[in-house]
Amino acid sequence: MKTLVVGSGGREHALALALSRDPGSPEVHAAPGNPGIGEVATLHEVDPMDGAAVADLAERLGVDLVVVGPEAPLVAGVADAVAERGIACFGPSREAARLEGSKAFSKEVMAAAGVPTAASRACSTAEEVEAALDAFGPPYVVKDDALAAGKGVVVTTDRDEALAHGASCDRVVVEEFLDGPEVSLFAVCDGTSVRPFQPAQDFKRIRDGGRGPNTGGMGSYTPLPWAPPGLTDEVVRTVVQPTVDEMAARGTPFQGLLFVGLALTARGPRVIEFNVRFGDPETQSLLALLSSPLADLLHAAARGRLDDAEAPELRDGAAVTVVLASAGYPASSSSGDVISGLDEAGGRDGVDVIHAGTATDGEHVVTAGGRVLAVTAVGEDVADARRRAYDAADLVSFDGAQRRTDIAAEPLGAVESRAVTDADQKVHP
Ligand code: AMP
Ligand code: GLY
Repeated sequence: MKTLVVGSGGREHALALALSRDPGSPEVHAAPGNPGIGEVATLHEVDPMDGAAVADLAERLGVDLVVVGPEAPLVAGVADAVAERGIACFGPSREAARLEGSKAFSKEVMAAAGVPTAASRACSTAEEVEAALDAFGPPYVVKDDALAAGKGVVVTTDRDEALAHGASCDRVVVEEFLDGPEVSLFAVCDGTSVRPFQPAQDFKRIRDGGRGPNTGGMGSYTPLPWAPPGLTDEVVRTVVQPTVDEMAARGTPFQGLLFVGLALTARGPRVIEFNVRFGDPETQSLLALLSSPLADLLHAAARGRLDDAEAPELRDGAAVTVVLASAGYPASSSSGDVISGLDEAGGRDGVDVIHAGTATDGEHVVTAGGRVLAVTAVGEDVADARRRAYDAADLVSFDGAQRRTDIAAEPLGAVESRAVTDADQKVHP
C-alpha cells in the first residue's frame, strides 16, 4: 500500500515506521516529516494545516491512504479536504474532531452518551470560575477550553493559582478532581464499529515522581500488568461505543483514532479527556509491539469497513518509551543543540529512536523543539524493556537534555496522581 503521513512529530515517526514495516512493499510518504521520518519515508514540503495542499499531494502521489497525525490539522478540516477528493483518509472530519478541539463539546457529548466522566462546568467569567471551584473543592482542575497541546490544564490545591489560570483563558472547564492511576486507551473507529488497542500509560509531568508542570508526555509503556482484567472491554462498552453511536446519531460520525484518557477511580474508570488522534508517546510503545498490518487496519477504518478487520495484534512482551526533551521544556524549548549517539542507540536490537523535534544542520542532527526524541525499546516484560530503553537513551546526548528516570519504574501506576495530592506540590504550566 502507498501511504502519506501528515505531521512532523514523534507520533508521525512511529506511524511511518510501523507503516514501513508492513508486509508487502509499502511505500511511505510524509508531509512535512522530520529527519527521522526521512529515513523511512519520502518527505514533501507541504504545510500540514493546508487541506488543499495535502489533498493535491495525495492525488499527485496516487496514495491509497492518508493518515493525519496531529490534532491541529484535523480540527482545521484537513481530513475533510482529502476525503472530498475520494481518497481514503484516516482521521476525523472537522466536526468530529471537536471531541478534542473543544473540552466543553466533548463534555456535552459524554453527558448525552452517558459516558462516565468528571462532573464539570464550562465558565466564561471570574465569578463562574470562583463558584465552580468552591462547588468542587480542592484539588482544583481548570482546563482551557481551546487546544493547548496538553499544556492548558492546571491541577492545583492553590485556589489563587486556579483562579489565575481561569483568568488567563477565554473560556475554561472547571471539573471535579479524579483520583486514581491514569490509562490511555486507543480505539480505531470507522464511524460505527471500533477496534481497541491494549491500554498504555503516559507520564505527563516533566519531573520524576510526577512533579512539575504538565508536558505533552515524557514517557510511556504497555501493557499495564496491574490493570484490571476486562478493562479494555469495559471501556469499549461504556465509553468508546456509546461515544461513536452518539456522534453517528448527530450526523457527524467519528472515523479515526479515539484516544480515551482515563482515571481508574475507586468508583470505576472515568474519562479525563478525549483526543482524536494517536497519543504521543503512547503510540511509540504500542506500535513497537504491533504484529498485524497497520495500513490495512487504518484503510478499513477510513472506508467504513472495520467489520471485516481484526483488532490490532500486539506481540507478547512489553515496550517502554523514554522521551528526551530540550532545555527549558515545557515552558520553552531550545533549538540547534547538536545531538550525538543516535546511530549507536538506534542500532541496538529492539530499539527505535523516534524523532519528535529534530532538524538537520549540515552533517548534524540538532534539537528543534521541546520534545526532541523518544527512545523506545521492546523486551520480555516491562522491567526488561525499561532497562533496554534507558540503556539506549544513555547513549544519546545533547546540551540541556531533560528526561525522567522513573518511566515505567512503578507499574502500579499511582505515581502521577499521588503527587498531585502532596501538600508541598503545585502543578501548573
Ligand atoms: P488533559 O489535557 O485533559 O488530558 O489533562 C492533562 C492532565 O491533567 C491529565 O493527564 C491529568 O493528569 C490531569 N487532569 C486532567 N483532568 C483531571 C481531573 N479531572 N482530575 C485529575 N487530574 C486531571
Ligand atoms: N500522550 C498524551 C497526548 O498525546 O496528548
